[in-house]
Amino acid sequence: MKDIELNISDIHSLGRDQAFEILNQISRVEKKTFPANEAFSFCEELWRKKPNTKVLYATSAASDIRSPLVAYAVYVRQKGIALLHKICVAESYRQQGAGKQLMSYIKQRLQREGCQCIQLWVDKARIAARGLYIKFGFEEREEIANYYAPGRTGIKMILNIDNGCP
Ligand SMILES: CC(C)(COP(=O)(O)OP(=O)(O)OC[C@H]1O[C@@H](n2cnc3c(N)ncnc32)[C@H](O)[C@@H]1OP(=O)(O)O)[C@@H](O)C(=O)NCCC(=O)NCCS
Repeated sequence: MKDIELNISDIHSLGRDQAFEILNQISRVEKKTFPANEAFSFCEELWRKKPNTKVLYATSAASDIRSPLVAYAVYVRQKGIALLHKICVAESYRQQGAGKQLMSYIKQRLQREGCQCIQLWVDKARIAARGLYIKFGFEEREEIANYYAPGRTGIKMILNIDNGCP
């Protein structure tokens, strides 16, 4: 199948009403995708008060698609390190290259902004996500049993940009 064409941006580039509309769409996908204890709160606070928390969103470049949210990601910058909290593609758009395009955008943007290291935690059972991270050069550094919940192991992964990971 041909890769989906995306427009990628971040919610801080939007005006208030548009940003809240996108945050609502993200919330709906988040609730469908993650268990309640892992679902991130995409509330208006994120837009108003947390400039270090970046919420990226991707919409289809095809104008005929009515519900446009395809994917989103959240990261937090702490000096030269970015913590990638979340990357998610809405279920009906998976395996069409959206995850790759969003990850590529994140990597290039962070590199351009002087970030030296990207870190994340992933559930060992999330095979698709781990495959995506490995493809982009992330390395598995640490495993913690019962990290997410009893029986669910967490893996810490890092992507070293300019030898900047501690
Ligand atoms: C992980 C996720 C973002 C991948 O998005 P996607 O748009 O489907 O991925 P792409 O089509 O761009 O594929 C990128 C790579 O991911 C891996 N991948 C994707 N789906 C896969 C699957 N079902 N099984 C194994 N590997 C998979 C492959 O390495 C793939 O590269 P390839 O196509 O060259 O083999 C998506 O599956 C998702 O949103 N999952 C639920 C949320 C989640 O687990 N997020 C991560 C934790 S926050």
